[in-house]
Amino acid sequence: MNLILFGPPGAGKGTQAQRLVAERGIPQISTGDILRANRREGTALGKKAQVFMDEGLLVPDELIIEMIDARLSESDCQTGYILDGFPRTVSQAEALDGILQSRGGSIDKVVVLQVPADAIVGRIVGRRACQDCGAAYHLEFNTPKASGVCDSCGGSLYQRADDTEDKVRVRLTEYDRSTAPVAAYYGEQGVVREIDGLGSMTEIFGRLLAAIED
Ligand code: AP5
Ligand code: MG
Repeated sequence: MNLILFGPPGAGKGTQAQRLVAERGIPQISTGDILRANRREGTALGKKAQVFMDEGLLVPDELIIEMIDARLSESDCQTGYILDGFPRTVSQAEALDGILQSRGGSIDKVVVLQVPADAIVGRIVGRRACQDCGAAYHLEFNTPKASGVCDSCGGSLYQRADDTEDKVRVRLTEYDRSTAPVAAYYGEQGVVREIDGLGSMTEIFGRLLAAIED
């Protein structure tokens, strides 16, 4: 299954994608995580992306499309994948369609996690992420067993530079302006399923599985 997990910043895309990886054994492809890894490694892509990410702005399409094209050609993607944070503009969605058509694939479902802006700010400001595997925790809603340490890989937890209230507002504006139209693009293909993104992480995972199987 080729799935897109879609929704505003802090909607729970990464949290739900990791549960689905464990359930289905297909990889999560988070463009945000790949960009952050490039930044840590000091690559040319990471350096170019840094200025946009720290301001809460989208990284230019051409950088993202080249990066995703390379990732989708890796062997672990040949039986399906979960896209998290991509596509984020209609141009990226069109480019993805071109890549998939050239390889004989398509997107099976786009699941939209619906979360109102007031809940998003609380989720993002309290988030702590693993610097090694990208797993998301929350100071109140999803605490690690040992403070500051990732349950999954033992990596250190940190607060992302774009996880301040000011930057969240910029990211939400970017989402409304550039990313929300992507849902309409896939709506025309009949593959969009909207689910309520409020509730416990387990409840939302149940809704996600039902939406995928619908
Ligand atoms: P990216 O890393 O993709 O960030 P995002 O889309 O803004 O989404 P987040 O990762 O912030 O949220 P999430 O939906 O994954 O939520 P999570 O599960 O962590 O992108 C970062 C930047 O990279 C962009 O701003 C841009 O600059 C660049 N970029 C990336 N992709 C790009 C692209 N395609 N094009 C251009 N630029 C790109 O959950 C959030 C918090 O809530 C966590 O603390 C979690 O524990 C908690 N939580 C989750 N579920 C629940 C729940 N049910 N109840 C309570 N708390 C919950
Ligand atoms: Mg994420």
